[in-house]
Amino acid sequence: MVQATPLLLVLFLALGAHGLPPMWMCKLTGQWQNDLGSNMTIDEVKENGDFTGKYFTAVSASPEEIKESPLVGSQRLPYWSQPTFGFTVHWNFTSSPIESITVFTGQCFVDDNGKEILKTMWLLRSHVRSPRDDWKATLVGYNTFWRKEDLMD
Ligand code: BTN
Repeated sequence: MVQATPLLLVLFLALGAHGLPPMWMCKLTGQWQNDLGSNMTIDEVKENGDFTGKYFTAVSASPEEIKESPLVGSQRLPYWSQPTFGFTVHWNFTSSPIESITVFTGQCFVDDNGKEILKTMWLLRSHVRSPRDDWKATLVGYNTFWRKEDLMD
């Protein structure tokens, strides 16, 4: 018991002695904004790591009016680590023959200031008419997301 005391103290502090989340914990659930100004809400992550959410992009290659679009994804477990994840956004304001879809993959980190950030990479696939046009169908890029509540600090 005497030997266990320092270990329990370390665990107590790391696991949030003051009601704060553990210092390494990064949760996907909540509202996020990225470096382009796009907004994303991730609903509760299920026990198996699956989640759903909504995405409102600030930019678009489509001439259509931007509308909120659904996303579905999955994260690796355990959720209290800094998990890797992936999700797909089904752009419901783009329609045939110029529909598009984006897949994001990334990792949820706690940065040096103790704030959660999502570092992601994405592929945006747009519909093209034939395999000859395949070369121009996919854009690739990076986005960093911050919790919206942290941006208001
Ligand atoms: C489209 O233009 O076909 C649909 C909208 C795509 C928005 C892209 S997805 C990757 C990048 N990150 C964002 O937040 N928005 C753009």
